[in-house]
Amino acid sequence: MIKIAIFASGSGSNFENIVNHVQKGDLLGIEVTALYTDKAGVKCIERAEKLNIPVHINQPKDFISKSSYEQHLLKLLSNEGVQWIVLAGYMRLVGEDLLHAYEGRMLNIHPSLLPKYKGLDAIGQAFESGDSVTGSTVHYVDSGMDTGEIIEQQQCDIRTDDTKEDLEERVKNLEYELYPRVIAKIIK
Ligand code: GAR
Repeated sequence: MIKIAIFASGSGSNFENIVNHVQKGDLLGIEVTALYTDKAGVKCIERAEKLNIPVHINQPKDFISKSSYEQHLLKLLSNEGVQWIVLAGYMRLVGEDLLHAYEGRMLNIHPSLLPKYKGLDAIGQAFESGDSVTGSTVHYVDSGMDTGEIIEQQQCDIRTDDTKEDLEERVKNLEYELYPRVIAKIIK
């Protein structure tokens, strides 16, 4: 079994989708040890509880530095034997400590066709752009924001009559197919 930890900061629908795939037997050989979140009171915690997945809530503001926050996470990850980290809406730059320990073994998903529309509200940025297509990208994590080596992208249309909510739903649905597929391909 390859043990993965999923990091999320908000809703956690990608987290839930990945766990559903694992629990249905669609991601053979992969075990999700826990959800790691950097925020108290967020929806991903509720989802994890319903799915019977352990949760670690660690808020960087409760640590003296980013390094001590990440060193604490590294102890938890090591105790659980985590081999890969999967970021799924973890809205924070990963620091040197985690990067060093998990270099080449950390994935992220970002809701745009990178290198376009990095950072916050990528779907809103695409919606406002006048582009006729957007999509989502899975990439390795490096020290930049949404800058690591691209593994795979999937695209969808932006229709002229779309609301931003329509586009968000289309991109999310695409992510629910893309991320498990790339996880199955890369995490072995
Ligand atoms: C996802 O769309 C993911 O691509 C994005 O956050 C959303 C999380 O949704 N990630 C980023 O923007 C990373 N820069 P979820 O909490 O419902 O899975």
